[in-house]
Amino acid sequence: MLNEIERVLLTEEQLQEKILELGHTISEDYYDKNPLVICVLKGAAPFMSDLIKRVSIHIEMDFMAVSSYGTSTVSSGEVRIIKDLDASVEGRHVLIVEDIIDSGLTLNYLLDLLRRRKAESTKIITLLDKPHHRKVDLKPDYCGFEIPDEFVVGYGLDYAERYRNLPFIGVLKPEVYNR
Ligand code: PRP
Ligand code: MN
Ligand code: MG
Repeated sequence: MLNEIERVLLTEEQLQEKILELGHTISEDYYDKNPLVICVLKGAAPFMSDLIKRVSIHIEMDFMAVSSYGTSTVSSGEVRIIKDLDASVEGRHVLIVEDIIDSGLTLNYLLDLLRRRKAESTKIITLLDKPHHRKVDLKPDYCGFEIPDEFVVGYGLDYAERYRNLPFIGVLKPEVYNR
């Protein structure tokens, strides 16, 4: 698997250092708010897992799985719920955890849904932001790294469901796609 990686974009150390910082910020901003922290499966699972361990206030966790209609590369913005939340968000301070924002369509849909369900506040934390192909005007409230317009994998991010288990963020060798 490692020989399919062209280069490492963000090392495990860089990721963990940034996550520690983000955890402190979240702990301050959500002090006394008992936020509902929502992981968007599957990509955000490793980030969620590491982030919450750096948060030193009471939180609750929930999970949601969504999928865009259409082909695997082009999102239509219509999002299907594969797994919904367990708890109600009404009156809650909601923090959505994502691994990456690309077109913004997934989060645009989720934000709208959670607001219709009467969340008290809705904010986004993303590990990576790739603003080059945004289709909707959407900015994360908290962001780990803004990254160049390259296809990255690892630390939750997949190519055809693979590479999620890498501890770093890397760029795949082109021959892997062209197989
Ligand atoms: C990826 C990623 C984000 C979303 C970002 O998820 O994890 O959730 O796409 O893209 P967007 O901003 O263009 O909507 P994906 O749909 O591949 O599912 P996965 O997390 O299970 O890999
Ligand atoms: Mn995802
Ligand atoms: Mg994916």
